[in-house]
Amino acid sequence: MAGRLNDRVAIVTGGTSGIGAAIAGRFAAEGAKVVLTGRDASRGEAVADSIRKDGHVADFIASDLTDEVSIQALVGNCVQRYGRLEVLVTSGAATATNTGEREISVTNLDNEILERSVKTNVHGLLWTFKYALPYLIEAASPEDDLTSAVVTIGTAGTRNGTPGMPAYWASKAPVEVMTRSLAREFGGRGVRVNCVLSGLVLTESERGAMSDEFRDYVLGLNSVPYLGRPDDIAAACTFLSSHEARYVTGATLAVDGGASM
Ligand SMILES: NC(=O)c1ccc[n+]([C@@H]2O[C@H](COP(=O)([O-])OP(=O)(O)OC[C@H]3O[C@@H](n4cnc5c(N)ncnc54)[C@H](OP(=O)(O)O)[C@@H]3O)[C@@H](O)[C@H]2O)c1
Repeated sequence: MAGRLNDRVAIVTGGTSGIGAAIAGRFAAEGAKVVLTGRDASRGEAVADSIRKDGHVADFIASDLTDEVSIQALVGNCVQRYGRLEVLVTSGAATATNTGEREISVTNLDNEILERSVKTNVHGLLWTFKYALPYLIEAASPEDDLTSAVVTIGTAGTRNGTPGMPAYWASKAPVEVMTRSLAREFGGRGVRVNCVLSGLVLTESERGAMSDEFRDYVLGLNSVPYLGRPDDIAAACTFLSSHEARYVTGATLAVDGGASM
């Protein structure tokens, strides 16, 4: 049976763990040919292997968001392998959890974390757009009702004003404005660009790092009495990447239990 992303060629950054791995798995199950990326080859190959074991199509290609040449090579390798690129999801990021910034206030700002966060989340994001967009444009044919799709992953904390984690918030806030800017610039050439604004999602790393106080704090912001799962974000990305979303661009879909409304 045809899936919602049947035969679509997709790159998922951050596909080696957490939310990105869930997106890669869901996309492949929906019929996409998925290239998942990140730096960690053993985690990346394990995610791709488990998708292939389920009978779907996925490849891991290593890349580092802090290295422009490696982003260019990632996109080039994907197009060489599959002949085109139709969907890009930007889940890869330096997060407050994977940098260890979680408990740090701006008064104790760690410059190494600041530089790593900006390099990964701002430079890396823009480099990914820079190299992917020409192929996304090439694959689109709006006159035939065929669009390409970019889905960015933002964070509800950039709206909530959650205390601490200054390098994370400051480096993730540009996601939403870039989504709207690219939607306006490239819509005419058939590329839709939307943002999924994620609330707290129980990935393995979040489960390990979260204090009870922080969990209760977020549950207090949420309008539903539970936290998110990686699959919740993957479901929203699937819709926005599919042809069903042909009239949706420049949108931010908050998947955050109502925390940011
Ligand atoms: N989990 C949440 O509660 C939550 C809430 C709001 C928003 N988000 C957003 O959701 C996205 C995924 O978060 P997550 O919780 O799934 O985090 P995660 O499990 O730590 O995954 C982060 C991903 O980014 C990749 N990455 C980090 N630095 C990289 C670099 N320099 N080059 C290439 N890849 C890099 C990692 O791959 P390697 O380690 O293999 O390089 C990994 O695949 C992020 O954009 C985050 O801001 C998450």
